[in-house]
Amino acid sequence: MNVLGIETSCDETGIALYSTDRGLLAHALYSQIEVHREYGGVVPELASRDHVRKTLPLIDEVLAGADLGAKDVDAIAYTAGPGLVGALMVGATLARGLALGWGVPALGVHHMEGHLLAPMLEEERPEFPFVALLVSGGHTQLVRVDGIGMYKLLGESVDDAAGEAFDKAAKMLGLPYPGGPHVARLAEGGTKDRFEFPRPMVNRPGLDFSFSGLKTHTLTTIRSLEGDGELSEQDRADVARAFEEAVVSTLVIKCRRALEQENLSRLVMAGGVSANRKLRQQLANTLSKQGAEVFYPGLAFCTDNGAMIAYAGAQRLAAGQCDGPDVQVRPRWPMTDLPALTVAS
Ligand code: KG4
Ligand code: ZN
Repeated sequence: MNVLGIETSCDETGIALYSTDRGLLAHALYSQIEVHREYGGVVPELASRDHVRKTLPLIDEVLAGADLGAKDVDAIAYTAGPGLVGALMVGATLARGLALGWGVPALGVHHMEGHLLAPMLEEERPEFPFVALLVSGGHTQLVRVDGIGMYKLLGESVDDAAGEAFDKAAKMLGLPYPGGPHVARLAEGGTKDRFEFPRPMVNRPGLDFSFSGLKTHTLTTIRSLEGDGELSEQDRADVARAFEEAVVSTLVIKCRRALEQENLSRLVMAGGVSANRKLRQQLANTLSKQGAEVFYPGLAFCTDNGAMIAYAGAQRLAAGQCDGPDVQVRPRWPMTDLPALTVAS
């Protein structure tokens, strides 16, 4: 079964073609970063308009890349939520229209389920059950995963998501949007142990996160350095390093705790922040000491992409799930509402 995946939930148009027999056949991504950069964040109306411009040409590009045509598409998977309502509507409307025209089924996919299953696109795939750390611009969650659609929320951020915290810290440091990769790069030149930022909520029991205090701490540190004049390049790097270390060690501590609590030894990390090198290294180091393994998507599939939507949709479509003909999106959609998939993938 060849499944066309369409991702338009935020500021990336991602298209892919996934075959349940042959794996990922082709994928293409268009990032709107340049469109939103001057505003310092995503402007929803501009995002929708850009998806309208890019989605069809990218579908053509992906089909051509796979050396296939519309007649070879057996089903369509599109992101139905969570995300920006206008942006989601572009993908959903187009997917529904194409499905009707081509006479194939279509299914609305949960964006975070897409992220969660993205490591399955790699050669070394995690077996169920596992704990998933989902770290993106909008979500920070620890989830127990017993199978596709069998999700138990173990903990989540009570305020900012980890990616959002990176983006806000970047703004304070005068770095462009989206800030995560820029903060990480700046942090590489930072001085070890010059600042020690708080590790929020690690001394409290439980698996929830909070990043807003860290944001305030970062701002206070920058302000006090500014008291001595303009921040030097070294000051900025030192702040970036302390910030990144605090986020990374908070995430690592909670992952270890989640595995212990659930008595599991596999951790899957996904979402934009899972591209962070320090986080990957420290998770691997810490968890290997307790005999646990870490899985994550390839770098191209950490941030938003069409392949993860095609893959997640393919699992459900192959099991016979599909939606009715009406166009529905869910800007807010708890992942725990998803139905369990009883047929093994
Ligand atoms: O999953 P994603 O592409 O979009 C959402 O679904 O939100 O995640 C985007 C987030 C942004 O906040 C971005 O700053 C962050 O992922 N990010 C990173 C890195 N690469 C992307 N954060 C830290 N380090 C990185 N290398
Ligand atoms: Zn995402």
